Amino acid sequence: GVPCLGSDALSLSLTLDKAYTSDLARVAGVNALTYRSYRRADDVDESDLPGDFPLFVKPRREGSSMGLSPASKVGNASELRSQVEHIAATYEQDALVEPFVEGGGEFTVAVVGNDPPEALPVLQRAVEAETRIGLHALEHRGALERDWTHELGGTLAPALEDELQEQAVCVYEKLRCKDFARADFRIDDDGTPWFLEINPLPTFKPGDTFAIVAELMNREYEDFLAGVLQNGFERLGV
Ligand SMILES: Nc1ncnc2c1ncn2[C@@H]1O[C@H](COP(=O)(O)OP(=O)(O)O)[C@@H](O)[C@H]1O
Ligand SMILES: [Mg+2]
Repeated sequence: GVPCLGSDALSLSLTLDKAYTSDLARVAGVNALTYRSYRRADDVDESDLPGDFPLFVKPRREGSSMGLSPASKVGNASELRSQVEHIAATYEQDALVEPFVEGGGEFTVAVVGNDPPEALPVLQRAVEAETRIGLHALEHRGALERDWTHELGGTLAPALEDELQEQAVCVYEKLRCKDFARADFRIDDDGTPWFLEINPLPTFKPGDTFAIVAELMNREYEDFLAGVLQNGFERLGV
């Protein structure tokens, strides 16, 4: 009976599971990647991979770039098996394997509010120059032992921004997110956006996505956040 801001337990659980999230996103008409989910290396069937190499291997139910490193991008079956084994041993859960999407950049979309939710200006994220994995994912978790260089491939044309905002709202509604969330996308060589995941507990840290979005909207960050929270209070009737 305690009113809570943000998404409920069902949405938090579903969005933590990247396979269920992908299935529901696809049903909602969003471009979701083909994936395979493996509990152990022996489960990898080379005649039934989710796509051509390179593939990307991540824990099925984690966030905040847990389990990610340059080795997450695999170029052949033996690298794939050893990365699946690493995820299985470290996190005691399935490894989710998808085609590695690159060419048109990486973008993240903040969504706020309800009935209807509103997608905010889209932000581009830097990718690491050599692996093309998002720089934020490699710098996370203390993996700073290298002096990473980064690039910003791809352009956020107005039509692409519209499409990303539309897809982000679609996933937000399908997964019944409430009040605030952030959806991640990658664009391939042909300019097609692919949905990666949605985070119903995004950081509000100064300098991070929501703060940058507020700045783009010419809003004082505290004032912007107060508005987001106020909408949540209204939804809850408190
Ligand atoms: N299929 C993919 N192709 C290319 N890069 C990917 C893919 N999936 C994830 N990544 C990279 O890894 C980062 C983290 O992956 P993501 O699915 O957002 O998980 P989380 O943020 O929960 O750790 C992404 O921001 C992106 O840079
Ligand atoms: Mg992410």
